[in-house]
Amino acid sequence: MKNTKGPRDQTYIQTNRANWNDRVAIHLRDDAGFYRVEAFLNGKDVRPDIDREEMYEFAGIDVLHLQCHFGLDTLSVARQAKSVVGVDFSPKAITAACDLAKRVGLAGRAEFVLSDLYATPMQVNRQFDLVFSTWGTTTWLPDIWRWGEVFAGFVKPGGRAYFADLHPTIAILDEANGSLVPRYSWRTPSDRPEVFEEDITYTGAHSRLENKKTVEWIHPVSDHLNALLSQGLRLEYLHEHEVIPWKLFQCLEGVSNPTSGAVCYRMPEGGAQLPLSFSMMLSRPN
Ligand SMILES: C[S@@+](CC[C@H](N)C(=O)[O-])C[C@H]1O[C@@H](n2cnc3c(N)ncnc32)[C@H](O)[C@@H]1O
Repeated sequence: MKNTKGPRDQTYIQTNRANWNDRVAIHLRDDAGFYRVEAFLNGKDVRPDIDREEMYEFAGIDVLHLQCHFGLDTLSVARQAKSVVGVDFSPKAITAACDLAKRVGLAGRAEFVLSDLYATPMQVNRQFDLVFSTWGTTTWLPDIWRWGEVFAGFVKPGGRAYFADLHPTIAILDEANGSLVPRYSWRTPSDRPEVFEEDITYTGAHSRLENKKTVEWIHPVSDHLNALLSQGLRLEYLHEHEVIPWKLFQCLEGVSNPTSGAVCYRMPEGGAQLPLSFSMMLSRPN
């Protein structure tokens, strides 16, 4: 169902930005080792295995990374691409990303822009060979159709768009007394978001967040896909995965990849498996 109305209440941006600003210092400090900042500083591509294995052709291309957080993935890609632009609405994230870029000698190849996702076309007015966004992005956005317009609008003719995230079917579940039970609707109306309060961030670090409240939406897989198809992109593949890069539920088991150093999480071995995440590659015909 296409919903072109944004929420009337725009305070969600301030609420979510305050929460994300809080997380930046905790994620940079990386006490729990989730972000593998040290490995990144030592030259490693620290993107999660799924996107690292699916999105790897960067030689000589210009890349746009939407909702780039403090730039670890952006800079992992910048090491391999001609140029990368990262965009995020958190001033603390953008400052941290610029500092990291300087620290690893990538400031000439990576640019970071402060912008709300929906306002990005007013800040960045060119198209790219590859546009990507991964892991924990559309949950912050009320209007998936407008997201599709923005995302696809940046893809050059002949260019590609890559997206990977939590499977929305799993996002409806809550963990209660050791069981996963449906709690949230599979499609959140744009004007009736879910509001959460969490003391800590998802990395396993114990530092307390000051701004605990977040405002979020669940958008179905079909809306993600149709939002991009309706903007003239063509689907190359849609994949569902039994793993996810963070411990979404306490019942998930960690699996380490000794080659990449990355850890992902899956339902317990021998039990029912679920599609915990999905990814897709699209392209714009010439
Ligand atoms: C989970 S992170 C991005 C994922 C990235 N893979 C990571 O973990 O480093 C989500 C990012 O979305 C950004 N964000 C949330 N709402 C946004 C909005 N309306 N416009 C732009 N960025 C937004 C946050 O600041 C945060 O950096």
